[in-house]
Amino acid sequence: MPHHTPPAGVDVDWDALRQTAIAAMSRAYVPYSKFPVGAAAITLDGRVVSGCNIENASYGLTLCAECSLVTDLVMGGGGLLAAFACVDGNGDVLMPCGRCRQLLYEHSAEGMILDTVSGFKTIDEVIPDAFGPRQLDAYRASQGGAS
Ligand code: THU
Repeated sequence: MPHHTPPAGVDVDWDALRQTAIAAMSRAYVPYSKFPVGAAAITLDGRVVSGCNIENASYGLTLCAECSLVTDLVMGGGGLLAAFACVDGNGDVLMPCGRCRQLLYEHSAEGMILDTVSGFKTIDEVIPDAFGPRQLDAYRASQGGAS
């Protein structure tokens, strides 16, 4: 049974995190879908990062809110995500799309918690048996460690 408490040492005010996601959502650039999304997260060392979706006239190039959150994370010095919340234009919880679960997985701390439509979930529950950096490392090691 996974524990639905954030990684040790990270104190999460979920209401505040949702409010940060709502503030991010208010900045969304969504002239095409008119479906604003905001995302917010806390890093292992207690920093808050956020993002909104940014659409494009070439529709498929749309950046999800999670993409801009990850950009915020990396530009702010990087680190690992411990807790995550995402909202739609009504401020209601929104489930990250499949691509965004993969994006979040790359930067997740062990045991990262997400606020989801079916309650708090770990990153491993929302993207089970994920492909990630470990698979690349294992393959390289199997090839004799060449980079
Ligand atoms: N969207 C996100 O920003 N994140 C998700 O996880 C789901 C979808 C955005 C993309 C697009 O701008 C709008 O929602 C409608 O699909």
